[in-house]
Amino acid sequence: MRIGIIGTGNMAEALGGRWAAAGHRVLFGGRSTARAEALADRTGQSAGTLGEAAAFGEAVLLALPYDAVAGVLAALGGADGPLRGRVVVDCTNAVGAGFRLTTGTGPGAARTIADATGARVVKAFNHLPDSVWRLPPPALAEGRLAVPLCGDDAAALETVGTLVRDLGCVPLPAGGLDRAAYLEATTAFLIGLWHTGHDPRTLLPPFEAVTA
Ligand SMILES: NC(=O)c1ccc[n+]([C@@H]2O[C@H](COP(=O)([O-])OP(=O)(O)OC[C@H]3O[C@@H](n4cnc5c(N)ncnc54)[C@H](OP(=O)(O)O)[C@@H]3O)[C@@H](O)[C@H]2O)c1
Repeated sequence: MRIGIIGTGNMAEALGGRWAAAGHRVLFGGRSTARAEALADRTGQSAGTLGEAAAFGEAVLLALPYDAVAGVLAALGGADGPLRGRVVVDCTNAVGAGFRLTTGTGPGAARTIADATGARVVKAFNHLPDSVWRLPPPALAEGRLAVPLCGDDAAALETVGTLVRDLGCVPLPAGGLDRAAYLEATTAFLIGLWHTGHDPRTLLPPFEAVTA
């Protein structure tokens, strides 16, 4: 699969690196050409601009700080831009001081991104830190990790499900995009626990436990 990644930071490297290792073609798009090229060199993939990453992917991972998202999406053309109709994986966490959601009680991040772009958004991978996603499978000795997915488009969910399986994890359908705000709020809670030293992989049960 061709995967465009918007961003060249920790999540871009963690997920993009694993997907590259699984045989996908990844284009890292950054506002810094040097950072995109360095990441492409480390992973044996290609580099480009933010717009080139948006237009490259059969799936596009949005891996930016949430407070940068609105400006970047607008600069990419918003709902008339290259993300319209595309599968977009939203791993962002709109979490600020005190591990509180900066989206408050309004629409969550994933819904806002879908409305801003017309993309087929799937919320995924936001609930665990990049250090977990960097691990080669199996990422949890007791069982494969379940990765909750929230989205409205069946084909998009199938595409992201493939990307989950290629990390050695198991997709856990978790409802439509209207459920993504709950995953985002749950993650704000989990992040508080990561920061007090809990192993985040144990905070949600592995797939075998979910289905037992
Ligand atoms: N790290 C984790 O453990 C983790 C886990 C789950 C979810 N997340 C979420 O995933 C997202 C990415 O996190 P991360 O840890 O990968 O962040 P990061 O390492 O700080 O990387 C952020 C990337 O966004 C780019 N960026 C920042 N502001 C920008 C702007 N105004 N225009 C264009 N590009 C901009 C940065 O570019 P420069 O390098 O040029 O500054 C960098 O490439 C966040 O929403 C975060 O909450 C993170």
